[in-house]
Amino acid sequence: MSDAAVLSIRNVSKTFGARRALDRVSLDVAKGEMIALIGPSGSGKSTLLRSISALQTIDGGEGRIEAFGEPVQENGRLSRQVRRIRTRIGMIFQQFNLVGRLSLFNNVVLGSLGRIGGMQGTFGLWPRETKDAAMAALHRMGVAEYAGQRANTLSGGQQQRGAIARALVQKAKIVLADEPVASLDPVSARRVMEALKKLNDEDGLTVVVTLHQVDYAMRYCRRVVALKAGKMVYDGSAEGLTRDKLIDIYGPEFEDVFWEGAPK
Ligand SMILES: Nc1ncnc2c1ncn2[C@@H]1O[C@H](COP(=O)(O)OP(=O)(O)O)[C@@H](O)[C@H]1O
Ligand SMILES: [Mg+2]
Repeated sequence: MSDAAVLSIRNVSKTFGARRALDRVSLDVAKGEMIALIGPSGSGKSTLLRSISALQTIDGGEGRIEAFGEPVQENGRLSRQVRRIRTRIGMIFQQFNLVGRLSLFNNVVLGSLGRIGGMQGTFGLWPRETKDAAMAALHRMGVAEYAGQRANTLSGGQQQRGAIARALVQKAKIVLADEPVASLDPVSARRVMEALKKLNDEDGLTVVVTLHQVDYAMRYCRRVVALKAGKMVYDGSAEGLTRDKLIDIYGPEFEDVFWEGAPK
């Protein structure tokens, strides 16, 4: 693993029954990169993110995943350090993963759990600095005015920015976002992408984001990685994703589905 790499994925495969969701995928992610992970539905994007965040094990064998230079899993087993590593990885999902009946503020403050004593968390006696950090994060994400509102009464975009604020409070150094804008209207989607970009630019957080909109991938991410049927078929610059490459990845119908601005 190179010095600057915060994520190292080596020869990772994942099989479900007869289906290879990931087929010998290798990828290094440097600190501070913002990478789009694209590919048709079923190509293995979620499986890869879930493997990195140790929500599932990979196949046994030589496959290995490291984060921050420490093993997350290898040979089909999660490492012993995995819980500690996971506190530095924030996950954002398509279905806004906030606790609906709790206020946005409490959801964000919960991001600090695991770093302060459990009892304090249970009884809501949050340390001053935790409360301040939560409010600051909500401000930065532009949703401070909704702090007291129950999460399930907020729009999808507001919830998603709340989830990003929670990752900030968690002091995550890597954010893995799985289709974070797939359920959002274009204006909300842009705000969420800009929020991720902001963490990347201003805080140097490493971001890996799966997107099914190729135009978002190209607009917000310099490096794009594409999967197709579990295999990595592209790893390069956004500018290098030519129309022909996109047809390779998505098939000829891609032009009907996506926007037309890819460089020829
Ligand atoms: N828990 C599971 N059980 C069985 N098959 C799965 C499971 N999770 C994913 N798969 C299969 O693995 C492949 C990759 O899925 P996924 O990673 O969700 O793709 P993507 O996120 O790119 O749409 C698909 O064929 C999917 O059906
Ligand atoms: Mg998916």
